[in-house]
Amino acid sequence: MVGAILGSIHDIPQNLLQQIKDFEDTFTVDSTKLKQVVDHFVKELEKGLSVEGGNIPMNVTWVLGFPDGYEQGTFLALDMGGTNLRVCEITLTDEKGAFDITQSKYKMPDELRTGTAEELWEYIADCLQQFIEFHHENEDLAKLPLGFTFSYPATQEYIDHGILQRWTKGFDIDGVEGQDVVPPLEEILKKRGLPIKVAALINDTTGTLIASSYTDSQMKIGCIFGTGVNAAYMEDVGSVPKIAHLGLPADMPVAINCEYGAFDNEHVVLPRTEYDCIIDRDSPRPGQQAFEKMTAGLYLGEIFRLALIDLLDSRPGLIFNGQDTSKLRKPYLLDASFLAAIEEDPYENLSETLDLFERQLGIRPTPPELELVRRLAELIGTRAARLSACGVAAICKKKNIESCHVGADGSVFTKYPHFKARGAQALREILDWAPSEKDKVSIMAAEDGSGVGAALIAALTLKRVKAGNLAGIRNMADMKTLL
Ligand code: BGC
Repeated sequence: MVGAILGSIHDIPQNLLQQIKDFEDTFTVDSTKLKQVVDHFVKELEKGLSVEGGNIPMNVTWVLGFPDGYEQGTFLALDMGGTNLRVCEITLTDEKGAFDITQSKYKMPDELRTGTAEELWEYIADCLQQFIEFHHENEDLAKLPLGFTFSYPATQEYIDHGILQRWTKGFDIDGVEGQDVVPPLEEILKKRGLPIKVAALINDTTGTLIASSYTDSQMKIGCIFGTGVNAAYMEDVGSVPKIAHLGLPADMPVAINCEYGAFDNEHVVLPRTEYDCIIDRDSPRPGQQAFEKMTAGLYLGEIFRLALIDLLDSRPGLIFNGQDTSKLRKPYLLDASFLAAIEEDPYENLSETLDLFERQLGIRPTPPELELVRRLAELIGTRAARLSACGVAAICKKKNIESCHVGADGSVFTKYPHFKARGAQALREILDWAPSEKDKVSIMAAEDGSGVGAALIAALTLKRVKAGNLAGIRNMADMKTLL
């Protein structure tokens, strides 16, 4: 059976119905609010490009233009995301937009998120070493450029450099913030006899933008809706006042990694609930990533859990009466896949949701309680999708983009039910398209940004070094050995 069928609302006791209604009031974001969010978002994007700066970092990436589809060469890519670490070898072949890829995926152990910097670099080096020993024994690694996808906000004065501004996505590793992350990686690799050089440090969104534009010239924005959220787009240097002092040509394109997870850290416009406030308060970085904390996969399950805990504590006896609810007390026990599974339950009696609650939480909700948790999951998923659309709409408005393709990746985009349709609906409301109009801005599944995108950006960098465009290159000596 496809789609969701809710049971009869008539069977739900009045007090639970009222609670569902309260949740609807708490989590619903109407068109007017979406538009207010977008208006403020546009201003904040502008501010991030200005000399004063603002909440949204709008990081200059030194990716100076789109690929033409004919880039070539073999590259290593290392992708350090929120959940996995991936090592890839990518060969961009001579056929337009084509590539071959070999890859290995490793789970980032949870302890690493809050471990030491040394443990982090050792783990990354272990994975890279394993990959190389398996695929590249006895090859000349000094000639194999590495694209390092480091999906955290980084200040880049150069493309082969990046100072971590702050950890996001629940990471909290001492001694990395405020430091350039390229030297420790290169050093540990050197110590292990792997003379690999980082040709480009990139963000997953910039990779997504570039990889998607490799095969689709209508791509103007790259987005991630996953453990974290963010987007990148191409700006003209002349519209980035904060780099005016560099005297670069005003019409030169430069990709901007917005880091818009930090949107509205000042709490001016986002419709935050008490649950969002708790998430922020108890996170390793309170006051940061306000937009991300309402929309990203890392937090959706926790918002749901906090809402249920609130009911248990503030309205005793209303739900799960007489049951042992202790398991539900563990922070971050539920991830977004829990909500996704509830939303995907195709049965009228929500039997899959019942199984899920029993298995993971040791709770057997009654049929009306199942209706309540289903509606709560829908509300949280819908709010995330609708707010997510605001970031895309804001970039379109800022750049006066009437129509384009947006390349999107991340676990929420690819796996969360109805996320795409709900986001598309929100865009229609925000951008006021007539009901009969076809969607002018479409968010579609992206090419592999962190792998192919990293390789392409490394290729583009080497290509421009060869052509004499040395803007944003730090280590010329190393770049030349890679040519
Ligand atoms: C990071 C971004 C990243 C996004 C998606 C955010 O937490 O700060 O750099 O692009 O997650 O992975």
